[in-house]
Amino acid sequence: MSKYLITGGAGYIGSHVVKQLIEKKNDIVIVDNLSTGFQKTVNTLKKYALTKKVKLGFYKLDLADSKKLETVFAKENVQGVIHFAASIVVSESVRDPLKYYSNNTGNTINLLKACLKYKVNKFIFSSTAAVYGDPDPKTIPLKESGITIPISPYGSSKLFNEKIIQDVAFANTNFKYVILRYFNVAGASVDGMLGQSTKDATHLIKIALETTLGKREKMFINGTDYNTPDGTCIRDYIYVDDLASAHIKSLYYLNKNKGGIFNCGYGKGFSVKDVISMMKKVSGNDFKVETTKRREGDPAIVIADNSKIVNEMDWKPKYDDLKIMCETALAWEKKL
Ligand code: UFG
Repeated sequence: MSKYLITGGAGYIGSHVVKQLIEKKNDIVIVDNLSTGFQKTVNTLKKYALTKKVKLGFYKLDLADSKKLETVFAKENVQGVIHFAASIVVSESVRDPLKYYSNNTGNTINLLKACLKYKVNKFIFSSTAAVYGDPDPKTIPLKESGITIPISPYGSSKLFNEKIIQDVAFANTNFKYVILRYFNVAGASVDGMLGQSTKDATHLIKIALETTLGKREKMFINGTDYNTPDGTCIRDYIYVDDLASAHIKSLYYLNKNKGGIFNCGYGKGFSVKDVISMMKKVSGNDFKVETTKRREGDPAIVIADNSKIVNEMDWKPKYDDLKIMCETALAWEKKL
């Protein structure tokens, strides 16, 4: 049994990873400032930990407060860190870049300093497909070794972190890391325990959910003139529990390896129209959809080449299925 410190464990992806770590009988320490995470999620996870007879501690703490952060490290004696906590709204990052460079990059430096000071040598980092920016269609599916030119401060803040983590690993022989580049994460846990509660309503699936449940009168497709089969943008949607299992695999991977960067996607894409059709099908509601102009900065196609994680970590996704992503997300949204 190990103990892991999870930053952002009260958030969407972090909470799903905590759940799987609990199932694998690990003790957990969540550090979250609850700016976008929820106390309710922590309570749910605490109850779950009790049923599995593992310990779950929670610190409401901002990673900017390095003194308090170090007291957590001093007290808890963790074997590894999984770092989710971040600001994640691409458009906001364009308006307020310093928020992103301080919350995402500056705070990651604080966390890394604490890791080095307390000799915590396993570090898993949530990165993003946004590091690829607006990729040349010829480079799809995207490989980890491909060009990274982010087009938003959000993407840059994550790419800086990747570089910083790699430099720290180079300078410190014992420090090991996995960087996971998430593609479009979707869905909620099949048992209904967890889901995405974030108020952020810019993501396609979230907006489709709100529309089908009548929280919005209609939704818009942002551009139908892309060079894709139906003219709308294509993304690689990955089910949140499959993404969570990639983190568990990463911890195993670090038992034998120094580190690496891995794409997390299924290697196939769905268009905006595909997603909307699926949402209409699973909800049984033909909600109103209109078209509007392109959203600035949207690449036409973003699809992962996932062969590295499949081959090197033996990652086996279980729910490579847009229908399950939409159904579970809908079931969760109905409860909000
Ligand atoms: N879209 C619509 N209508 C909407 C909402 C979205 O047509 O109401 C379209 C977008 O324009 C885009 C596609 O649906 O073409 C997917 O958009 P999302 O906002 O759901 O997701 P993105 O692909 O823009 O963003 C995702 C992650 C980001 C990450 C980025 C990197 O959510 O965190 O991928 O590629 F930075």
